[in-house]
Amino acid sequence: MPADLTTTYLGLTLECPLVASSSPLTGKLESLRALAEQGVGAVVLPSLFEEEVANGDGPPSDALWHADEHAGEAASYMATVDRDHLDAYLDLVRDARRELEIPVVASLNGVTPGGWTRTAELLQEAGADAIELNVYAVETDPYASGASIEERMLRLVLAVRREVRVPLAVKLSPYYTAFANVAHRLTDARVDGLVLFNRFVQPDVDIGAIEVAPGFELSRPEELRVALRWLAILRGRVDVSLAATGGIHTTEDAVKAILVGADVVMTASALLREGIGRLGDIRTGLAAWLDEHETSLAVARGRLSQIACGNPRAYERAQYVETVGAANAMR
Ligand SMILES: Cc1cc2nc3c(=O)[nH]c(=O)nc-3n(C[C@H](O)[C@H](O)[C@H](O)COP(=O)(O)O)c2cc1C
Repeated sequence: MPADLTTTYLGLTLECPLVASSSPLTGKLESLRALAEQGVGAVVLPSLFEEEVANGDGPPSDALWHADEHAGEAASYMATVDRDHLDAYLDLVRDARRELEIPVVASLNGVTPGGWTRTAELLQEAGADAIELNVYAVETDPYASGASIEERMLRLVLAVRREVRVPLAVKLSPYYTAFANVAHRLTDARVDGLVLFNRFVQPDVDIGAIEVAPGFELSRPEELRVALRWLAILRGRVDVSLAATGGIHTTEDAVKAILVGADVVMTASALLREGIGRLGDIRTGLAAWLDEHETSLAVARGRLSQIACGNPRAYERAQYVETVGAANAMR
């Protein structure tokens, strides 16, 4: 009998710990169905961006907004929304919910704790099983302190938390001075999960044209390392679900993330590069790995977390000192 892959993520029961993260593949019904056929545990829809719903000059809509206690505020917010874009996104949530028998996570992407966060309730009403809030930001203001940026992020999270009853996950970058503390404070803000990590799109420079180039490329497996470290450190220290994203291309990558403590592993680049069938391959490979090692997901998960691994220094400065020291000694 193949290994049991049943997983709990954000309080939801998933048939397996593989999740298709936000990408163009989760934005179309055809590819969503194909992902379900490959045995994906849940899907995260592409993001609805703050910039897309907080601007525009569409007319207010009675049908779209039903919040009672903030009715006045809500109406003024809805007066500024790009209605077509929002409606198309809500249709995607409804269609995906109707078509798929797996959890559908809607994704909101923004940085400002403003009226746009009311969109979260619309996503919930449209049938989203959970919401993933992506707080991608590039902080360029030399006068904004790290503390003030963290406060703003927490206010945003609290604003979205207030809007919905469905589980809320936050997708974060690793670029915080004290990441463990940020994770702890998000737990206090009653988020249900942390998605580690947001992948920053870094600009490149075209030296022929002498201009800045977008520099977008799909991920590589080496990128998983940063998430491996923080999943390992947080496992058992914060009482929320943990998702790994960034560099999961193969069964080996998925197993590594689970061993350090991920509840679920997410993929996007591998599926875009290799095709949706890659998801089924990873799923089959994960079950085979569990069989081969005569273990279960519950036992394997977190076995190499910092608390459990027997070598906590491996995740700290000590590892850096040892590794760099050894490399220097070889010269
Ligand atoms: C083409 C493309 C579009 C993406 N769009 C979104 C998005 O809308 N929202 C989001 O949170 N992440 C988005 N991502 C990020 C992925 O969900 C994922 O976190 C990231 O690519 C790292 O995982 P990977 O190494 O498996 O690709 C996108 C990634 C790709 C490649």
